[in-house]
Amino acid sequence: MKVLVIGQGGREHALAWKLAGAESVTDVFCAPGNAGMATVGSCVPLPSDDIPALVSFARDQSIDLAVVGPEVPLVNGLVDAFQAAGLRAFGPSKQAAALEGSKAFAKEIMRRGNVPTADHVVLETLEEAQTFLQDREDQSWVVKADGLAAGKGVIMCDDRIQALEAVRHILVEDAFGNAGKQVVIEETLVGQEASILALVDGNTIVALESSQDHKRAGDGDTGPNTGGMGAYSPAPLVTPELMSDIERNVLVPTVHAMKLAGCPFQGLLYAGLMITNQGPRVLEFNVRFGDPEAQPVLLRLRSDLGEVLLAAADGRLAEFGPLEWDPRPSVCVVMASDGYPEKYQTGHPIQGLDQAAALPDVEVFHAGTTAADGQVLTSGGRVLGITALGDDHSDAKRRAYEAVKCIRWEGAWCRKDISDKVRQP
Ligand code: AMP
Ligand code: GLY
Repeated sequence: MKVLVIGQGGREHALAWKLAGAESVTDVFCAPGNAGMATVGSCVPLPSDDIPALVSFARDQSIDLAVVGPEVPLVNGLVDAFQAAGLRAFGPSKQAAALEGSKAFAKEIMRRGNVPTADHVVLETLEEAQTFLQDREDQSWVVKADGLAAGKGVIMCDDRIQALEAVRHILVEDAFGNAGKQVVIEETLVGQEASILALVDGNTIVALESSQDHKRAGDGDTGPNTGGMGAYSPAPLVTPELMSDIERNVLVPTVHAMKLAGCPFQGLLYAGLMITNQGPRVLEFNVRFGDPEAQPVLLRLRSDLGEVLLAAADGRLAEFGPLEWDPRPSVCVVMASDGYPEKYQTGHPIQGLDQAAALPDVEVFHAGTTAADGQVLTSGGRVLGITALGDDHSDAKRRAYEAVKCIRWEGAWCRKDISDKVRQP
């Protein structure tokens, strides 16, 4: 079959790479793709949010399945537009994508499904927030813009004054535009985070192997939040017992509540969890593969990704046997541009990509690159996701950093401690 991967980051490179290696897949197109994706498929210069152009490309090329990487086109109704044109796309409808597109909607679904999450309120005015906070003990809070804010809409607050300031920033100063018409104020949860990604076809749920992201820029989880500086899979924190708990108490009731709400979920359901002393609590839902979690998870997948995504899009996941996995753990180290997650430069030539890729059990996934005059140039904040398999997590880590050492460009940096958490529960 012919597949179209929509997006241009490390997650999309991992998807395109895995699909290109699948027996069921004959052609991979990428829109718009990056320099790495161009080595596994044909890149077409269509932005991932130009839905009419993507529909018409898919129709002209008789694409059998579109696989959508980022959340924005999903929340804007890409899958509905494909379906209306008689085309198949893996991903949720616009209505179902609200699970990521609106934190208030996600909380309402969790309430209906009795899914464990932080206690919270949804508010629309500063006055409501003032009253709410004054009536409660002065404690730490997490304040969130309701809508999509490119990972920046979550503000951790030490006390009531900071929380009110965060609410003002979102509701009054309109820091996130339309995404900030409502805020969620919730209790701060304590524990370790884990990401559970699951394929869903509306009814049937097939959970993927667990993973853990590293959201902060600095070693030891310090510094500002980023899109994710590295990840590993599996997350040993997620024991088989905990995984069944998550399936039973998070995934199943969420998928059920979505069905009852009239918007069955088809696509990739990502549960961002805090594993607290009282058990798993949902921090957020995403409606697409995590980035960088997709890179270490997909590196371990042995099943045919094309077949399984097609089955999910067609509502046939129940016919599918269990997925096959490489038992070896994997570690992904993100290499970023100087200055990221704040302002950074682009256009620096990258050296050493071939040496790194030649190392055994290493894949170099491109996140922010372009090809120009036979060179690969940096074009984003997160530039590469160096991903390696190993006999255990420390072996995978060693191999990933060995590959990192081969690669150079002006201002390149990465965290040095990806996967150390495995040994520091
Ligand atoms: P979200 O986009 O909602 O997952 O939030 C981004 C990050 O903020 C999460 O990965 C957590 O590190 C942190 N976070 C969000 N909500 C909470 C919470 N209630 N308690 C503690 N940390 C949180
Ligand atoms: N790695 C977090 C995310 O994809 O949202």
